[in-house]
Amino acid sequence: MELQTILITVTSTIGFISLTKTLVSFCRWVWITFLRPPKNLKDYGSWAIVTGSTDGIGKALVFELALRGLNIVLIGRDSSKLEGISRNILEKCGSQVEVKYIVIDFAKEKSVEIGKKIEKEINGLDVGLLINNVGVGYPAPMYFHQVDTKLIDSLIRVNMDSLTWVTKAVLPVMMKKKRGAIVNIGSSSGLSSIIPSLPLYTIYSATKAYVNMFSRSISLEYKRHGIDVQCQVPIFVATKFVPLRRSSFFVPSPETYSRSSIRFIGYEHTCMPHWRHYIHWCILGLMSEAFADKLHLHYALTVRDKGLLEILCFDL
Ligand SMILES: NC(=O)c1ccc[n+]([C@@H]2O[C@H](COP(=O)([O-])OP(=O)(O)OC[C@H]3O[C@@H](n4cnc5c(N)ncnc54)[C@H](OP(=O)(O)O)[C@@H]3O)[C@@H](O)[C@H]2O)c1
Repeated sequence: MELQTILITVTSTIGFISLTKTLVSFCRWVWITFLRPPKNLKDYGSWAIVTGSTDGIGKALVFELALRGLNIVLIGRDSSKLEGISRNILEKCGSQVEVKYIVIDFAKEKSVEIGKKIEKEINGLDVGLLINNVGVGYPAPMYFHQVDTKLIDSLIRVNMDSLTWVTKAVLPVMMKKKRGAIVNIGSSSGLSSIIPSLPLYTIYSATKAYVNMFSRSISLEYKRHGIDVQCQVPIFVATKFVPLRRSSFFVPSPETYSRSSIRFIGYEHTCMPHWRHYIHWCILGLMSEAFADKLHLHYALTVRDKGLLEILCFDL
C-alpha cells in the first residue's frame, strides 16, 4: 500500500471514531437530560429534608417535592418564613403531605447543636431524601484580604460545615433501612473542569470544591448501603444569591432549575441538571484555561467596579 493511501485510511478512521464518540455522547446527553424517566423519590422514603428552603432553589425544590407526594422537613433560619412556606405547601398540596420545620442558623449554631436538633426532630420519620442546599456567597466581588472575618466564618460554616453535620445526622437513618438519596447543591465554580478559577470569589468557590469532593467520595462509601449521593453543579440561577435576579436563556428561574434538578436525583454522582447550563458550559469549554483565568479576573473586576454581573452571564 502506498504511503498516501495509508495516511488517508488512518485519518479517516480517526475521524470516524471521534465523530462516533461525539454522536454517542450527544445521544447520551439527550437521553439523560430529556428522556430518562426520573426516579420515584417515594421509593427512598416518605420524608424529604431540604436545608435553606425559605428562598431561591431550596424553596422551589420543596414545592416540587411536595407536589410529588413527599412529606417535607424544611430547615431555615427564619421561623416566620418557615411557617409561611409550610402553610403555602399545605394550601397547594392539601392533606396529602405533612410538613415540619426546624429553625437552624448555620452561621451561628455549633455543629453538635445542629446534629442534636436534627436527630431529635427526625426521630421516627421515614427519611428518604436529604437536599443540602443552603449556601451563602459574597455580597460583591472582593480580594481575599478584603473579606472580613465574619463573612469568611459564615462561608465556611454555611457552605461546608452545614452539609457535613446535617449529613452526619441523617445518614444513620438511611443506613438502617438501606435506602436513601442525598443531593448536595454545589456550584460549577467548585469544579475546575468547568470553571478553572473564580478570582474575587475565592472562598466561595473553594467551599464549593469541598462540596464536590465530599459528595463524590461519600457516594462511593455508601453506594453499597443503598444510598445514592449526588452533587449538582448549577451555573447561574435567578435568585437573590446573585445580583442578577432576572431569568434569561442561560439563567433559569429557581422553579425551572428545580424541575430539572429533580429529574436527576439518584443517578450520576456529579451532574449539571439544567440543559441550558450545559450549553453554557460547552461554550465556556471552548476557551483555553489561561484565557478563562484572565477573563474571569477581568469580569470580576468589572463587576466590582461597575456592578455589571450581566456580562458574566453571556445574557442573550
Ligand atoms: N443562584 C445561583 O446562581 C447559584 C449558582 C450555583 C450554585 N448555587 C447554590 O445553590 C444553593 C442555593 O442558592 P440560592 O441561589 O437558592 O440562594 P438564596 O436564594 O440566597 O437562598 C439561600 C437559602 O439559604 C438560606 N440561608 C442562608 N444563610 C443561612 C443560614 N446562616 N442558616 C440557615 N439558612 C440560611 C436562606 O435563608 P433566608 O431565606 O433566610 O435568606 C435561603 O433559604 C447554594 O448552595 C448556592 O451556593 C446557586
